[in-house]
Amino acid sequence: MALKELKKDYAGRDFLSLLDYTADDLQYFLDVADYLKAEHKAGQPISYLQGKTMGLIFEKSSTRTRVSFEAGIYYLGGQGLFLSGHDLQIGRGEPIKDTARVLSRFLNGLMIRTFSHETVLELANYADIPVINGLTDLLHPCQVLADLQTIREHKGRLAGLKMAFIGDGNNMAHSLMNGGARMGMHVVIACPEGYQPDAQVLAAAEEAARESGGSVQVLADPMAAAAGADVIYTDVWASMGQESEKAEREKVFGGVYQVNEQLMAAANPGAMVLHCLPAHRGEEITEDVFETHPEIFDEAENRLYAQMAVMALLLA
Ligand code: CP
Ligand code: NVA
Repeated sequence: MALKELKKDYAGRDFLSLLDYTADDLQYFLDVADYLKAEHKAGQPISYLQGKTMGLIFEKSSTRTRVSFEAGIYYLGGQGLFLSGHDLQIGRGEPIKDTARVLSRFLNGLMIRTFSHETVLELANYADIPVINGLTDLLHPCQVLADLQTIREHKGRLAGLKMAFIGDGNNMAHSLMNGGARMGMHVVIACPEGYQPDAQVLAAAEEAARESGGSVQVLADPMAAAAGADVIYTDVWASMGQESEKAEREKVFGGVYQVNEQLMAAANPGAMVLHCLPAHRGEEITEDVFETHPEIFDEAENRLYAQMAVMALLLA
């Protein structure tokens, strides 16, 4: 098949939060992701990143993000450079703003996974090249773009669907609220007192929901959140960087904020189960539910195509 002409409208932009993009933009990103998936599976060579380089900065661990970015750049004809935060001079105190200006002279794009969201904002502010957020303590937009692709693939639509997130009001909850609200979904977050989503993120998602006809709600009761849901989503109780809170969080979340058969019985028949992974079986999800919902691996697979779309469009 001839090379599909992609829109140039996104060239040079950053991908830091899903709310930086309109619903039409995100639908287009998903269309491109679906197209790239079909082309790649058909064995078609794709060369949108021919001769281009992406730096991939990791200050936290990763399996999916690292491998899907590295493989995705290669499949697009470009070259990815894995840059560990331990090995870069940022690990020895070189300011992020200097790193941004130097790497902009060498590369065509940057992805960063780090702790503080401010670090990504500063990197993007000082870099002359597109910056992609590969997870911060606040947001995980690449994951949710792949999640939206997976939901659309399985359910044929996004608007009007109910998605319940069970667990910590963390980076995943935030990006699901952003992405779901933007696309007209009804997003319900069930989390314990003291672990609710960030108030500013919630307010922005509520605003997006008002525009799209979706909704965002935060509850304490997981069964109420799951009632009639089309998509059940969960994530670990303690995220990267919260290792010292693990025992305390097990006490707070344990036995209640878990995706199990009983919770699934409250959801709509045929409800999808999604998990960004890695999963902790017996904690936020039972072995039975996990192993009977293979769409979790479709979701992981779509990281590759969603991110290929983002890179092809931003580095155009
Ligand atoms: N879901 C996700 O981002 O996985 P990794 O931490 O393995 O990259
Ligand atoms: N909330 C998790 C997501 C991992 C992909 C974390 O930040 O560790």
